[in-house]
Amino acid sequence: MEIKERGNWGSQFGFIAAAAGSAVGLGNIWKFPYITGRYGGAAFVLVYLLFVILVCVPIMNSELLVGRKSGKNALGAFKVLAPKSSWWIVGLMGIIAGFVILSYYSVIAGWATAYIFKSGAYMAAGANPADVFVAFITSPATPIIWHAIFMLMCIGVVSAGIEKGIEKYSKILMPTLVLILLVLIIRSVTLPGSGAGLAFYLKPDFSKLSAEGILAALGQAFFSLSLGMGCMITYGSYLKKDQDIPVNSYWIAGADTGIAFLAGLAIFPAVFAFGLEPGAGPGLTFITVPAVFASMGAIGHLFGILFFFLLTIAALTSAISLLEVVCAYFIDEVKWNRKKAVWIMGIFIFLLGIPSSLGQGVWSSYKFIGGRDFLDSLDFIASNILLPLGGFLLCIFIGWYWGTDKAIEEGNIGAKGAITLGGGYRFLIKYVAPIAIFIVFLKSIGVF
Ligand code: PHE
Repeated sequence: MEIKERGNWGSQFGFIAAAAGSAVGLGNIWKFPYITGRYGGAAFVLVYLLFVILVCVPIMNSELLVGRKSGKNALGAFKVLAPKSSWWIVGLMGIIAGFVILSYYSVIAGWATAYIFKSGAYMAAGANPADVFVAFITSPATPIIWHAIFMLMCIGVVSAGIEKGIEKYSKILMPTLVLILLVLIIRSVTLPGSGAGLAFYLKPDFSKLSAEGILAALGQAFFSLSLGMGCMITYGSYLKKDQDIPVNSYWIAGADTGIAFLAGLAIFPAVFAFGLEPGAGPGLTFITVPAVFASMGAIGHLFGILFFFLLTIAALTSAISLLEVVCAYFIDEVKWNRKKAVWIMGIFIFLLGIPSSLGQGVWSSYKFIGGRDFLDSLDFIASNILLPLGGFLLCIFIGWYWGTDKAIEEGNIGAKGAITLGGGYRFLIKYVAPIAIFIVFLKSIGVF
């Protein structure tokens, strides 16, 4: 058996837990519902599903197999597979995207952390959840303190190395999160007036879908599946040869998409039942979830605390993968030791997060891309441009430079036969995925 000095995942399940842990996070529970609400509901969801199946699953396979073949970080992988070329720039772009995403991701994750302590108590006092939320995020210092606390948790985990512990906990905590989500859904769909929310979420109206919405669906698919920035390359580099990449890719994508779908089912009926605006934006989850739980009395407050605790853990398992991608580069290529890399990058990422937090309140008059605040602008650049561009370039790399034959050969090592890579994968990665991304880009800048 080959033993790499960088270590391997202990088990097939350990790997799925870690990769799914990276994929399942705020992207599913906080971002998917609010982006879906902003871009019109069910039609957006359908386009999102198409992108997951036709674009993202083949890219998931590709990132994992590039990682396993090279045994390297996001940038090092390209140096190994394409020496004396400029392909490493794709890896560098990914590292930059990881840096940017974590800066605002940690701000939102800080809100979730704060809500472990806030939601129960506030709602018990009968306060209006929307007022509570706005008062909280617009205050200058408190959210930054929670952002700092969240970054410190991240730094703690990543500087210790990704421990068995987090894998072990994920196995218990993620299924619990799904259970709580089911409780939320049951309460949400039984609220009076929730039917309109279900229709909004499940009955497609394509006239509501803009070019910007299609781009957002693509960006959200990349973001939610942790693709386009080398995260799955890094995680794939710890895969053993006997582990089944094609089947794993389906599991990760399936679990991630399933949880996002459930989150929408929990949120939208409640949005309509409480007369909120579905396009209300980043606060949607933080307002509806406490409101639904408040409608359940004392037991609801307990569920609320548990929900935000689990959301924080889900965010943490994603955030550590973002920090790991950034740090793995400084450790492997710049030869910093792990502690140094994690602390220096962690502090810079924290600093970049500050304007995202202040942009909710004292700096809310500063607008950037298309009238977006600072947080939303960074998210737009990272999710809707850097990630799909990274994915596009990976398709070109595999399909037209490194070669799909080599990719298929590597990807099928360890495949048990339930799903294998073949002609379908070749067609998707060479043509369908890159052309789809290209067309979405052209359409969103108004070329046609
Ligand atoms: N996929 C994570 C989420 O949905 C976020 C993430 C994006 C993590 C990119 C790693 C890389 O919350």
